[in-house]
Amino acid sequence: MKIFIETYGCQMNSYDSTAIIGILENAGHSIVKLPKDADAVLINTCSVRDHAEHKILSRIGSLRIKQRRANRPKQIIGICGCMAERLGKKLHEVSHRPDLIAGVDQYDQLPQLLENAVSGNVKVNVATGHMDDVHYVAPVEAYPVNNSHLVTIHKGCDYKCTYCIVPSTRGPQREKSPLMILDEIKNIVDQGGREVTLLGQNVTAYSAPGMNFAKLVQQVSKIKNLDRIRFLTSHPCDIDDELIDTIAELDSVCPWLHIPAQSGSDRVLKRMKRYYKVADYMRIIEQARKKIPDVTFSGDFIVGFPGETDEDFRQTVQLMRDVRYDQAFCFKYSERPGTPACKMTDDVPIEIKKERLAELLDVQEEVWQNITKDAVGEIWSVVVEGEARHSENSVKARSANNRKVIVDGTESQPGDLISVQITGSNGSSFLGKIVSAATMKGTADVNI
Ligand code: SAH
Ligand code: SF4
Ligand code: F3S
Repeated sequence: MKIFIETYGCQMNSYDSTAIIGILENAGHSIVKLPKDADAVLINTCSVRDHAEHKILSRIGSLRIKQRRANRPKQIIGICGCMAERLGKKLHEVSHRPDLIAGVDQYDQLPQLLENAVSGNVKVNVATGHMDDVHYVAPVEAYPVNNSHLVTIHKGCDYKCTYCIVPSTRGPQREKSPLMILDEIKNIVDQGGREVTLLGQNVTAYSAPGMNFAKLVQQVSKIKNLDRIRFLTSHPCDIDDELIDTIAELDSVCPWLHIPAQSGSDRVLKRMKRYYKVADYMRIIEQARKKIPDVTFSGDFIVGFPGETDEDFRQTVQLMRDVRYDQAFCFKYSERPGTPACKMTDDVPIEIKKERLAELLDVQEEVWQNITKDAVGEIWSVVVEGEARHSENSVKARSANNRKVIVDGTESQPGDLISVQITGSNGSSFLGKIVSAATMKGTADVNI
């Protein structure tokens, strides 16, 4: 069959979608680039907020309507990912009923589920349920060689933040073995990959016999010809001195930390069950700034968590100003069925949530403008990732500390390391002009 895969949600879903490509191709199916050319459309879904799930339900509807209007034979529609895991066979009851449902540990079943969908002989065409020993490996060929290769190092989550659906959709934390991870990365490098992003909902909580996350990173950094190692998402509770020193000392470990704070109020953090206080969080930021040259930060925030007062929110705004994130992903609290926060009253009115979100985004924009102003004139080493969209003769590139730069007037190729001088910014990217081919790694070389 010709299959189109559409991916929503986090990078763990992107990785899984690539693994799904491998599973389906092995079973003799082929992947197509447009839904209209497909016999089956698989949607890899996200449940993290109510809005994410609504988007997917309306997407199923619009696919069905498009098929009908174009008079095409009925396409099979399959739901994979967190929504499939959360809702299981209930998804058969929605309007525009999907034909198959595959939870996050069941992708090996997809060839069978597709067959069932074609024959129509199986009434409840659903496979869900967590399996401790299922770990996927995404085929290297499915990634463009010069891009960062995602490598999921464990699945699930053992934290139980009170607002979060992920522990129930992804199950308990289960580790890929260090051997399996190292083999996967060696294979990526053998096939020309130079950069990996280690992935986990709490990547820093990795734990195998004799091995914590810092030690795993140290092992990965020994792989020859692997130039850059990134990782996400970090939980503040798992970032210790050993990890900060590892990032500081190892050249190939990129100086960028994605550490969601969620709130700047201890009272709210306690109700969220995040297990740290704002002072602990700031200590990590200060240590990282002190020890890791050019380190940058990104994070996530939730506004309007049950019981969040204006005073709590002011503290979140303050935290954002204090940290000076390169990027902050901010969300309005969304009540998720079955999570512990459901027992608290969702008492912050939607208008207030919207106002707080808008204010937080404004503050982040101000922080970002100051960061970009300070950077003008600096010379950075960046790796070219591809052609820049919408502008000819320019490329998009990334610094070790995860800053995107659009570089004008160069024919550099993906994978090239070049030196650029920063001239300004546009949206979430810096703008730069080429200075020379770079020989160094890292980021800010000279401040002229
Ligand atoms: N494991 C990561 C990310 C989890 S999901 C972590 O622990 O940080 C990504 C982000 O979505 C979270 O960091 C949080 O900011 C947001 N999020 C999760 N559940 C949410 C909810 N119920 N409402 C609003 N935002 C939510
Ligand atoms: Fe969700 Fe918290 Fe686990 Fe992150 S650490 S996935 S926010 S429960
Ligand atoms: Fe969404 Fe599942 Fe990722 S809920 S954020 S796709 S783990």
